[in-house]
This record gives sequence, C-alpha cells and structure tokens, in this order.
Amino acid sequence: MRRPFIAGNWKLQKTIGEALELVEALKKQVAGVDGVDIVVAPVFTALTKVAEALDGSNISLAAQNCYTEKSGAYTGEVSPPFLKDAGCSYAIVGHSERRQIFGETSAFVNAKVKALLDEGLQAIFCIGETLQERESDQMYDVLSAQVKEGLTGLDAADMQNVVIAYEPVWAIGTGKTASNEQAGEAHAFIRGLVRGLFDEETAEAVRILYGGSVKPGNVDGLMAQPDVDGALVGGASLQADDFARIVKFERA
Ligand code: PGA
Repeated sequence: MRRPFIAGNWKLQKTIGEALELVEALKKQVAGVDGVDIVVAPVFTALTKVAEALDGSNISLAAQNCYTEKSGAYTGEVSPPFLKDAGCSYAIVGHSERRQIFGETSAFVNAKVKALLDEGLQAIFCIGETLQERESDQMYDVLSAQVKEGLTGLDAADMQNVVIAYEPVWAIGTGKTASNEQAGEAHAFIRGLVRGLFDEETAEAVRILYGGSVKPGNVDGLMAQPDVDGALVGGASLQADDFARIVKFERA
C-alpha cells in the first residue's frame, strides 16, 4: 500500500508572519493525523522560520524549486545543500509555472532531480500537459517525454526518493479540476511509464499526486482513484481549514 502524500504549494504567497500563522493553525488541525505524509512548501525566505515551527510536528518542509549546482558564482540561486540546511526534506521541481514562465527544460529539471537526490533530499517531480496538447491528442506523448527526460539516469533505488505530481496545466489555478476518470487514466498511464523505465516493484511503490484545483469538495473522489496517491495543492493550501480537510480526505 502506498502512503498518501498531501503537499501544499504556497507559490509566491505568505510572508514569514503569515506563513507562521498558517502553520500554527495547520499543526493544530492535523495533529492527530497519521498514515499520511503532509508537506508544505513556503517561499524561500520563510523556510527556516517555518522549519522551526514544524519541529516535532507531523508536517514536513519542501522548497518550491532548487538549482543544480551546490554552491559558487550563481547569483540568485538556492541549491539542495542550502535547502537541507534550512530544514527542507523535499523540493518541488518541474512545476509547470517554472517550465512555462521561466523556460525550464526537461533536461534542467532532470539535473535538479539528481542534485536533490545527491543531497539526500526527495524530489516532488511535476509533469502535465497543456489544454492545447490534450485537445490535439498529444497528451500521452508529452507525459511520456516529460517522464523519460525528467527521470533519465535514475535507477530504481533513486525512485524511492521521487514523488511524481501529475498537474494538467489547464487545471492549475483555474478551478477546472480533471474529472476523477481523467486523473485516474493519466495516473495509470504514468505508472505504466515508470514500470517500463524501471520495474514492477518501483511502479507499484512510486507515489503519483494529482494537482490542479484540488479542493475539500473534490479531493475524496480524486483520492478514490486507484492510481491517485495524493495531491499537490495550490490555492486551497493557503487556508488551514481547507488544507486540513484535504489532508483528512475520506478513504473510499
Ligand atoms: P491549484 O495549484 O491547486 O491552485 O490549482 C496547484 C499547483 O500549481 O500545484
């Protein structure tokens, strides 16, 4: 059985003070929850303070991005050793906003995944097709290329530290969630890709999160899909009540 994984991606929101308010509320609301990996991803500047606030709780810390080199003359970048130093266990990589707005390629995302694993951190590796790609029947080719290129050079043991997030771009921040069936289909396809690249055991063990307008009202149906193992939540992770309800999804 795969352990459910619910992560909140706060994006460029929540100052340090606001972030601390949110985690204090969240800690209370999810205090008794076990059997679910709970993760929050604040902005870089709030990481150390949030790490202190999360100490001893059942919530782990993720960064929203990382660089590929460890240190040096890379003005403006933050790398895995520094994220580890700040208290992170995970970093999100390959988010569609990074791919689209900042032009990140699959090769760059692949280097980020490797840099994280190299440091003993886990990668939340995002993939997903645009609406145009879905409507022109390119969805499976796009997902296939993103998975293959993003996981190039990894072996089955590395995959124990990778969580995949399927986030159809058209569902992010739009209020348009994929239907349970659409999510289930894409997840089954992605698990099949992992089976082909690695092996059956790795495919069965890897957690595949759905992301894109996950809310308290739709999480139960999405989580009931056999290949949906969790959620990467944007908007609804900014409210403690909503995020806690998503963490406490109802098991089918
Ligand atoms: P959303 O964002 O839940 O606001 O759609 C999801 C994400 O971008 O990870």
